Amino acid sequence: MIATVTSAGPLRGEVILPGDKSISHRALMLGGIAGGESRVRGLSQGADVASTASCMRALGVEIADGRIGGVGMRGLRAASGPLDCGNSGTTMRLLAGLLAAQPFASELTGDESLSRRPMDRVVEPLRRMGARADWPPLRVGGGEELRGIEFQAPVASAQVKSSVLLAGLYADGPTEVVEPVATRDHTERMLRAMGADIQTGDRRVRVARTERLQPIDIDVPRDVSAASFWLVAAGLIRGSRVRMPGVGLNRTRTGFVELLRRSGFNVVVSADPDAAGEPVGTIEIGAAGELRPLTIEAQTAAEMIDELPVLAVAATQLPGTSTVRGAAELRVKESDRIAAMAEALNAMGADVTVLDDGWLIKGPRHLEGARVDSKGDHRIAMAMAVAGMMADGTTQIEGADSVDISYPGFWDQLDALRRGD
Ligand code: S3P
Repeated sequence: MIATVTSAGPLRGEVILPGDKSISHRALMLGGIAGGESRVRGLSQGADVASTASCMRALGVEIADGRIGGVGMRGLRAASGPLDCGNSGTTMRLLAGLLAAQPFASELTGDESLSRRPMDRVVEPLRRMGARADWPPLRVGGGEELRGIEFQAPVASAQVKSSVLLAGLYADGPTEVVEPVATRDHTERMLRAMGADIQTGDRRVRVARTERLQPIDIDVPRDVSAASFWLVAAGLIRGSRVRMPGVGLNRTRTGFVELLRRSGFNVVVSADPDAAGEPVGTIEIGAAGELRPLTIEAQTAAEMIDELPVLAVAATQLPGTSTVRGAAELRVKESDRIAAMAEALNAMGADVTVLDDGWLIKGPRHLEGARVDSKGDHRIAMAMAVAGMMADGTTQIEGADSVDISYPGFWDQLDALRRGD
């Protein structure tokens, strides 16, 4: 599908964002091995989370109407064929950890994009734990009992950390992960809320073998990464005002909100009560004041890894040179996001220089509508929709249906905000 976006007037209204994708995956997996029924409201309806749900069903877990029938730590059964993880790296990497510890072997497959993404980053530590694990294709499990390890993660990845922690729930002896920079901690929070033996410190997590996880009852916070598109659009389009209630405000995910504030964006955040150990609140954004360029290094890049494509769009409108570095992980996401964003923004008249691990972006630049390619990557499609609203003329975005991966309803929401509903 090709989406057509024209230059927009003010965006106004309230947005009900999709459920947080990261928390939804974890609720389905951990709820699936809990000892009893979990209740989960507000799960992401995106295709990635649907991939996790269908894999868990194939492993014997009943999931319907927000209820997850936990089968217990030892209750999963072998699927009848390969588990299709679709486009979802989180599904594949976290399931690899969970399934490496099972007495049966599993094969995990995915679409063309996922088949190109690196899985050695989980295979290597799982093997060190004594698991059978091979890639490509990704095959795990069916071997001996696992043993705990201390794992110094070479890349900043919550998916890798979580994969090792899930295997660690089944290992003999404690499992410790040390991260190069801190990444999102949803697995740790949910495991703690479910009664697992888990300790967290500065970039360090330790989990011990767990015989039973208590079921959870959770209203999944709405996805702050989905909020990022409206934050940039409403911040930069004069006269806009957008309110987003019930958004997850976990500090490992809100770096982008803080960064926009420091660059002169007018964002107001108010807190609500927590949801199963996850902070939640309302975010309101109005038009920005005086703007400043931004600088991103490795720690900040890890805190806002999914927001960097739309951040590149924002940087085209900031005065001076914005620098994004330490973000080489963008090259191995659903697409090479460093190349994809530079190609699309430069086609619209931006001044983006590609670096190995990020961009130099000179602004402000006047953007002109163009035909651009999302490379079938949901976050590129949505970031370019924001660029299209700030450009003169008409922007056509190829592969626009990819938004369904994390944000079904994105295009309708965009129309509603333009109408001021
Ligand atoms: C995720 C972690 C991030 C992020 C992805 C979701 C998670 O990936 O990009 O959208 O739920 O753990 P990495 O941890 O591989 O950077």
